[in-house]
Amino acid sequence: MQIFAFLIGVTVSQGPGYNPPYTGSIWPKPQFQDVRSEVFTLDAGNIKFIPQIIHDGPECDVVHNATWRYGQYFKDLSNRIKPHEEFETDPRRKRSLNNNDAHPTVSTVTLIMPGTCERIPLSTMEEHYDLHVDGAGVTIYSDTVWGILRGLQTLFQATVPIMTKSGAVEKFEIAGMAVQDYPRFHHRGFLMDTARHFQPISVIKEVIDGLEMNKFNVFHWHLVDDQSFPYDCNHFPHVYAIETVKDIVEYARVRGIRVVPEFDTPGHIGAAAKGQPGLATVCYDDDGKPTGLLGPADPTNEKNYDFMRTILTDFKNVFHDDYVHLGGDEVGFGCWKSNKNISDWMYQHNIAGDYAKLEEYWVSNVLNITKQVGFNYIVWEEVFDNGVQIDPETVVEVWLPYHPLNTTRDVTKAGFRALISSPWYLDYISYGRDWVYYYNYEPLAFNGTKAEEDLVIGGETCLWAEFVDASNYVSRLFPRASAVAERLWSARDVTDIKDAQARIHQMKCRMNLKGIHAEPADGPSACPIEFERANY
Ligand SMILES: *[C@@H]1O[C@H](CO)[C@@H](O)[C@H](O)[C@H]1NC(C)=O
Ligand SMILES: *[C@@H]1O[C@H](CO)[C@@H](O)[C@H](O)[C@H]1NC(C)=O
Ligand SMILES: *[C@@H]1O[C@H](CO)[C@@H](O)[C@H](O)[C@H]1NC(C)=O
Ligand SMILES: *[C@@H]1O[C@H](CO)[C@@H](O)[C@H](O)[C@H]1NC(C)=O
Repeated sequence: MQIFAFLIGVTVSQGPGYNPPYTGSIWPKPQFQDVRSEVFTLDAGNIKFIPQIIHDGPECDVVHNATWRYGQYFKDLSNRIKPHEEFETDPRRKRSLNNNDAHPTVSTVTLIMPGTCERIPLSTMEEHYDLHVDGAGVTIYSDTVWGILRGLQTLFQATVPIMTKSGAVEKFEIAGMAVQDYPRFHHRGFLMDTARHFQPISVIKEVIDGLEMNKFNVFHWHLVDDQSFPYDCNHFPHVYAIETVKDIVEYARVRGIRVVPEFDTPGHIGAAAKGQPGLATVCYDDDGKPTGLLGPADPTNEKNYDFMRTILTDFKNVFHDDYVHLGGDEVGFGCWKSNKNISDWMYQHNIAGDYAKLEEYWVSNVLNITKQVGFNYIVWEEVFDNGVQIDPETVVEVWLPYHPLNTTRDVTKAGFRALISSPWYLDYISYGRDWVYYYNYEPLAFNGTKAEEDLVIGGETCLWAEFVDASNYVSRLFPRASAVAERLWSARDVTDIKDAQARIHQMKCRMNLKGIHAEPADGPSACPIEFERANY
């Protein structure tokens, strides 16, 4: 199904094949934006941030970190301005956004925040902001530090380099505008798989920079899988040291991005099982001899719940989020069926032959432990599909490619909250503009009631890493993930592909400007400032 859909994507005509105008359009598209005819020169090298925070103090470090960071980003822009003589005599010089040279200069950015400062982004985070650009300068208003962050990103994106035809930057301009903006969905996530290939810290941070630019707010970290267990939780062998994981969590926090760790069980535990005898079920052949293979976690071994408690307690100390992802996908029953101790145990517990009940016993125990440790939880859809009894507050992530709208309908009809990822698996690649396919998927097209629609809290785009490592990770991710970012942030009626085409191109250029290895989205094109290896 998924592959078929991608082939349809390829039949869409290829990109514009020219240099689309660079107008400072915003990605994802704001809910309301009124662009005025006045234009201002932005004195990028001398921007002064004026925080007007009622409850200012050390706990407002997200805002203070952001003003420092954005000060640097704008300084880096201003460093690209060439000395005046170089372009003064260039007859092909483009003078301005509106071809009028003499503009007032603005250099102040006032940040108004009446609310209290939150330090940790949680599932309840609010991101509404207003932004105004006029003769008095730039003003960003928000009730929360997270809204201030989103507003600063919009300001960065609205800033346009005015170029000569010879490729020199003359100045930066910004149009007068009023923006009122907030996300359509609360949960806008990206799943990073660091189990199939080790992804170095520099790549993870580059990814998080790109997530911030696209106003994603969840980094779902698929740390552990069959192939590796690269997590040092003080008790088990490792690849990412605890201090490294904490550094990533902190890097994401100040960018308003939650880090939701995943520990996938009872399937996909191959690597964890190597360090934990008795965790995985021993599989047997028809003659009752061990096959040498290990299956899903053994729900009948009570020690395994101590192991889960140890890991989850450690997670709680390292990740600040209110959610953990407990996996639950692709649990094969074959190995459980082959193991006589397991069937004996099931007989004693009156569930002989009912392997879904055995799975339920594992999941129920793990959910209870998770609750006791202090996390809420997300599970992959199989836990729901298999009819496992789960808590009403469980979030179900729809990922299987077969009729995800039907699954969304079923999950929400049953009263559970849903997260959508099926249409957004970026590891499937094809020739051409596949972002259009991601862009066109409407998560609420399942004929639900208003109450059922409200249970769809958002979605996640996933880049499984069987075929990606540090050498190609970021370019495969961006700007294809940007299509999902706009679907999850912008209004439902933002569906104009032609409009998106010009804006996603600018978004790619902007990500390059910040040193992010985003690939061309849309066929032949050029950026005002082409990508160079930078020192970010
Ligand atoms: C069942 O458990 C016993 C005791 O732990 C063990 O010796 C035996 O090998 C197990 N049998 C199977 C089929 O796993
Ligand atoms: C999990 O907790 C619920 C509610 O307290 C309880 O009914 C259930 O039996 C527990 N599950 C297990 C496997 O202990
Ligand atoms: C999905 O739901 C529609 C409408 O109820 C139904 O016609 C269709 O057969 C369903 N598809 C699957 C595969 O269940
Ligand atoms: C939604 O309704 C339309 C028209 O009745 C139907 O064709 C479609 O299959 C439905 N989709 C789902 C997911 O139920």
